[in-house]
Amino acid sequence: MEIRTFAETDRAELRELFGRAGEGAPSASLWGHEESEAAIYLDPYMDLEPDSLFIAVVDGALVGYLTGCLDSSKFPSDSERVEKAVRKYRLVFRPGPAAFFARGMVDMVWAAVRREPTAGSIDDARWPAHLHINVEPRARGTGAADGLMKRWLDRLRETGSPGCHLQTLVENTRAVRFFERMGFAKHGPTPLVPGMRHDGKRLHQQTMVWSP
Ligand SMILES: CC(C)(COP(=O)(O)OP(=O)(O)OC[C@H]1O[C@@H](n2cnc3c(N)ncnc32)[C@H](O)[C@@H]1OP(=O)(O)O)[C@@H](O)C(=O)NCCC(=O)NCCS
Repeated sequence: MEIRTFAETDRAELRELFGRAGEGAPSASLWGHEESEAAIYLDPYMDLEPDSLFIAVVDGALVGYLTGCLDSSKFPSDSERVEKAVRKYRLVFRPGPAAFFARGMVDMVWAAVRREPTAGSIDDARWPAHLHINVEPRARGTGAADGLMKRWLDRLRETGSPGCHLQTLVENTRAVRFFERMGFAKHGPTPLVPGMRHDGKRLHQQTMVWSP
């Protein structure tokens, strides 16, 4: 297995891997429209920070990737990226995404009535970097994810980063265990993620942080 930095020639294959790498995980899809989800979670990382994007290759084929960002304050925020995708792909007029947004509104009201917070992004100078990682099912438990994460943690150390955060789901227990094994610690509350469901159940955001 080879772990290396993304090259422009990987773009099409990585975009194809994006569609299946999250399979089975509670985080696999937001609203079931791959192109717009890639526009939020993959394309900006290939376009804006290719040196923080690592890929795992087995027998010449991409099997996993980690998209990193050294300074989240200089990167388009989650909400900016979502808003742009909603406009570009006219998501409110598509059945899957429209149902997601409708559920999201109901969830927000439900949380407000219970005076509970909902998911949001973290802006803390102790952990300015962030990452997303996905490894396709056949490469899980093979060391591909470990290799990707080690490369990213090396980059954080080499660049003198104060620290890194990530946001996963409480219900993604395999991912949480993996991140803890890699040195991340749970941080802050675990609010509801409006609109998201897995096996019909509501999901909760888990923020995790790492310091060198
Ligand atoms: C989350 C994710 C990246 C974790 O990667 P993973 O490879 O599944 O990591 P795990 O820690 O579960 O498994 C690692 C296993 O491989 C083993 N392993 C590590 N290096 C190895 C190597 N070189 N050779 C063989 N096995 C190895 C570990 O010992 C561990 O085994 P254990 O569970 O029996 O202790 C991956 O499961 C994934 O992409 N899931 C779907 C998408 C997702 O949830 N992404 C995160 C969203 S926030």
